[in-house]
Amino acid sequence: MPVITCIDDLKRIYRHRVPRMFYDYAESGSWTEQTFRENTSDFEDIYLRQRVAVDMTGRSTASQMIGQDVSMPVALAPVGLTGMQCADGEIKAARAAEKFGVPFTLSTMSINSIEEVAEATTKPFWFQLYTMTDADYVSRLIERAKAAKCSALVITLDLQILGQRHKDLKNGLSAPPKLTPSTIANLMTKWRWGIGMLGAKRRNFGNIVGHVDGISDAADLGAWTKESFDPTLDWNKIAKIKEQWGGPVILKGILDAEDAKMALNVGADAIIVSNHGGRQLDGALSSIRALPSILEAVGDQIEVHLDSGIRSGQDVLKAVAMGAKGTHIGRAFVYGLGAMGQKGVEEALRVIHTELDISMALCGRRTIEELDRDILLIPENFEGRWQG
Ligand code: GLV
Repeated sequence: MPVITCIDDLKRIYRHRVPRMFYDYAESGSWTEQTFRENTSDFEDIYLRQRVAVDMTGRSTASQMIGQDVSMPVALAPVGLTGMQCADGEIKAARAAEKFGVPFTLSTMSINSIEEVAEATTKPFWFQLYTMTDADYVSRLIERAKAAKCSALVITLDLQILGQRHKDLKNGLSAPPKLTPSTIANLMTKWRWGIGMLGAKRRNFGNIVGHVDGISDAADLGAWTKESFDPTLDWNKIAKIKEQWGGPVILKGILDAEDAKMALNVGADAIIVSNHGGRQLDGALSSIRALPSILEAVGDQIEVHLDSGIRSGQDVLKAVAMGAKGTHIGRAFVYGLGAMGQKGVEEALRVIHTELDISMALCGRRTIEELDRDILLIPENFEGRWQG
């Protein structure tokens, strides 16, 4: 096994092993990809304060997210088509998360179904819900997540309409892949992926196929999802979903202090400051830049998490020290999964944990509770001053 020292090591192997169309799916932002790029580069504008001669023994990265114990403040974010990055990808990622003691979030647009992941794991996972115009289907999905004992519902709010990612259109993205001459040529170089896929439990969208009338293949499904995301989603509907669910609710896709206040009013347990990994509104602020104003507006009344741009334990440290109660990783675990399956996700988590632990110690802190802005050097104008 190669020596893995950072998330980029996993990304290099991932790129080599996974079919181009799925690599491109994960590695794209919308339109010019400005927000996608700045999600990561903006972390570099924040510096850490090195402190010395502090007793470093007895360190721990353990914390809580929505009252649930986590071995570090990092959850696996919902990523569509994870089971196309690696055979049974959702099951493998969920098992890695369980082993590491961090939450796994299953996407509505997953390959392995809610039931398959529940059967393959022993601890509750979180379920991410997309709201569709078919209210009965959404209601059945919520009941299925309840039956599977999911311990939180993550409602995504920033994808009522899909942002355009150029490469997906050019690649003709589908699950399973459509066999065009260029796809076949590319698949022939990905034998490891192909062998795995031959043995996969499932190669289509497990939460949808068989649960929605008339959906049997990828072509139907593409058309269905385009028509099905609910363009009328509003705060009243969110309140109704919350009521049906009856358990912890996390609202994902908040990037503005006004929306954070709405999330608070609706009684969410947590919000995720997110721009969907730069995949939706290109030209929006990076999540880490949006975080301070949201914390200022609601941070003392609701748990605030962050996703989009986390590629290292130092990024986790910066977000948490700034005031986020937790972070979510998407691409960082997908690279590991595509590179080497469950072991790769475990490696991604190990890398992030090591970086978090060592950086925390070198800042003179031993526990997550001790982290605060005092360890950060944040540029004066980090949030930006915008004309009113
Ligand atoms: C779906 O969540 C996507 O970003 O493609």
